[in-house]
Formats: sequence, structure tokens, C-alpha cells
Amino acid sequence: MTRAGKSPIWHPFTQHALQDEMTKVVRGEGAYLYAADGRRIIDAIASWWVVTHGHCHPHIVSAIQKQAELLNQIIFAGYTHEPAEQVAAALLKLAPDGLDYVFFSDSGSTSVEVALKMALGYWRNIGEPRTRIVVMQHAYHGDTIGAMSVGARGVFNAAYGPLLFDVTTIPFPAAGHEQATLDALEAAARNEKPAAFIIEPLILGAGGMLMYPAWVLKEMKRICEASDVLFIADEVMTGWGRTGTLFACEQADVSPDIACYSKGLTGGSLPLAVTLCRADIFDAHFSQDRTRTFFHSSSYTANPVACAAAKANLDLWQEPATRARVASVAAMQEQAIAPFRADQRFKNVRRTGTITALELEARDGGYLAGIGPRLQAFFGSRNLLLRPLGNTVYVMPPYCVTPADLGEIYAAIKDAACIEG
Ligand SMILES: Cc1ncc(COP(=O)(O)O)c(C=O)c1O
Repeated sequence: MTRAGKSPIWHPFTQHALQDEMTKVVRGEGAYLYAADGRRIIDAIASWWVVTHGHCHPHIVSAIQKQAELLNQIIFAGYTHEPAEQVAAALLKLAPDGLDYVFFSDSGSTSVEVALKMALGYWRNIGEPRTRIVVMQHAYHGDTIGAMSVGARGVFNAAYGPLLFDVTTIPFPAAGHEQATLDALEAAARNEKPAAFIIEPLILGAGGMLMYPAWVLKEMKRICEASDVLFIADEVMTGWGRTGTLFACEQADVSPDIACYSKGLTGGSLPLAVTLCRADIFDAHFSQDRTRTFFHSSSYTANPVACAAAKANLDLWQEPATRARVASVAAMQEQAIAPFRADQRFKNVRRTGTITALELEARDGGYLAGIGPRLQAFFGSRNLLLRPLGNTVYVMPPYCVTPADLGEIYAAIKDAACIEG
């Protein structure tokens, strides 16, 4: 029996006792969502950071339609198909140098699980078993057990603590304290012989849109390289133009040993993820000995329709107009956020690429800050999809957003300063 005739659906990251009604959406186009009650909602967070070129982009929709009529699913062990081959080849051309192999999965969390398993498998197979993972304070890498283990401990995962494996955590490189981060990483790399360091390059997303400079990322890679620690770049959120470049690592001229991409991989149309790795990580699993196989799969690995959507997304990234749009959104975002820097009611006003964030005054901080749901309801009443992380409001729009849309978004954020923290 469900509660008083309510829907039987249990929604993600939703406290049903506090959020009774769900907004029913019937259509998406560009930067807009259309609700069943006729409202047009501006999608200011790209539907959980996935929609890059806009909802229902015609080139991606057409690729999905064509592929769905041809081959919509095939086991990926022992079989392959053209959309997957095309995506892998195109991705390797765009990804940082040194990444040679592509493993498909279906969500950001799974791409992280795959990355961790690749790292441990590599060390085991070369006869130097290492299992320790170094992570960054405030990190978020997903909600499966391994991904939670390498993420910050807190309210998201308090109930599952006993299942999570132990990691070494280095401090977030807050402005002026970067050296402490680098020293901690150097000490961990030297003393603990870790298998890998996993990092969200340039921006920690769910941890509060925390931004740090490219030179720190570059230094962290140098330290890992010097101690033979595998460097895993989790670009699930930062990939696909979000930080201003296609991938955040480009800004630090960093080639990760393993990289995770998802979210915008299909332009936000279908679930798909990839984990890319160096050739020697693949080679460590390449053997006549079947026990050295990389034992990971999911039923829908490299689903052909999702791969066709990803290929269409990669086509769009070949067009100079796409990068020009990213640059233009970054510039528009800077223009829109600039006045907030001088407004005392907003703290830590910041931007990296197409993402802006700021904090509102609040009695309590963190994800469960009391102001969070009030802000969300307020933005909803202005027909905006904004979903603050506690008292942190951020804007991460699809790249088709217009100056007028941003005008509406930032007018609402300004008005939100009146909401009691
Ligand atoms: C950096 C990062 N890694 C991993 C994930 C998990 O991705 P998914 O929700 O697709 O499992 C997220 C999700 O927000 C993320 O931001």
C-alpha cells in the first residue's frame, strides 16, 4: 500500500515526507522544460549536469531514432558494433594524450567503480599488489559502495559507513592553503604506496561547487607521477565543456592515467559512461591466463542506442560552433555573476568556465542547511530548475541558454537573498 493514493515511485535524493508533489514534465526543448500544468521552466542546472547542447537536440534525437530501428541491444562480451567503435575512436582523438583504451559502462558511479577496479587489477597483475586509494576532502564520486568509499563521509552515506572501505584523505586546496594539500599528497604517495589518487579536476561538484586552480591540479599529477601512483581524473561532472575546455585536465596540461566521463557524453540524452586508461593498464590484464581478465560488466554495457547518441554528441564537438558557444556561455556567466561579487549578502562568488556558484547567508551550512529546501521552492515558484546544495546556489546551464534566460535566473538569485537562512 502506498501513502494515501500517492505514486509508488521512490525518487532519488528526495525526502518524500517533506516534498509531497513532484513536478510532472512532459517535454523538453533547448534550455526549457514544459510541465504538465503548462509552465515553461528554465533548466538552470542542465537536469543534474547532463544536458549540454539542450534538451532533445535534433542531431542526437535523429541518431537515436536511426539506431533504435537497426540494433538496440547486444551483449558486449565477444561482440561489438559500429556505434561503440566509432565512439571509442572519436573519444581517443579528443581525450588527453596517453589514454589508449575505452571501457564502457552506464553511469558516472559505475565509471568510477571501473576506474578503481582497473587500478587495483593493474597493481595485482604486475605483481605489486596495492590497494590504498587517496582521495580529496569534500569529494563526491557517486553512490555505489566503491564510489561512496572514495567520497566524503557525511550525511549522504552515514548509514552505510560499515560497508565503505578505508581511504587516505588529503585536504581541499582552499585558496592560500594549496601547499598543505600538495604536502599531504606527497606524504601519502611516499609513505603509503597507494594504488591511485582519484580527483575531480578543477571543481568538486556535489561537495559544494568548490573550485581550485589548474596549477594545483598540475602539481598533484606531478606528485603522483613521481611516486608511481595512478592518477584517476573523475571528469563525470567537469567534462564536456563545463570548465570552459572540453575536459578540465586540458587546462593543467594533465594526462590522467585513468579518466571517467559520463553525463554529457550523450549530450544528456541517454545513460552511458566510459573509463579510459593507459595502454599498460590494459596490458597488465592481457594474458593467456584467464584469471587476469578484467572482470567487470553490466547487461547494457555499450548499448548501441546510447552509443549512437554519444557519437552524435561527439559530432557536435567537432563543430567549432560548439566550442564558441561554450566560450560565449562562460562570458555571459561572468557578466551575470560579476555584480554579486560586490554584494555583501553573497559570499564566495565564483566561476570556472560555464559554472558559477555563491553562498547565501545561513544559520547552518552543509547539504542539509535549512535554507536549501526553501530556496528550491522559491526558485520553483519562479519557474526555474535550480537545486542548491544547502546554502550554495550554482548555475550550470545547457549551452543554448540565452542572455534573457540568465537574466531571469540571476534576478531570482538576487531576490533569494531575502529568504531567511
Ligand atoms: C564527479 C562525479 N562523479 C561521479 C558522479 C556519479 O554519476 P552518476 O550520478 O551518473 O552515477 C557524479 C554525479 O554527480 C559526479 O559529479
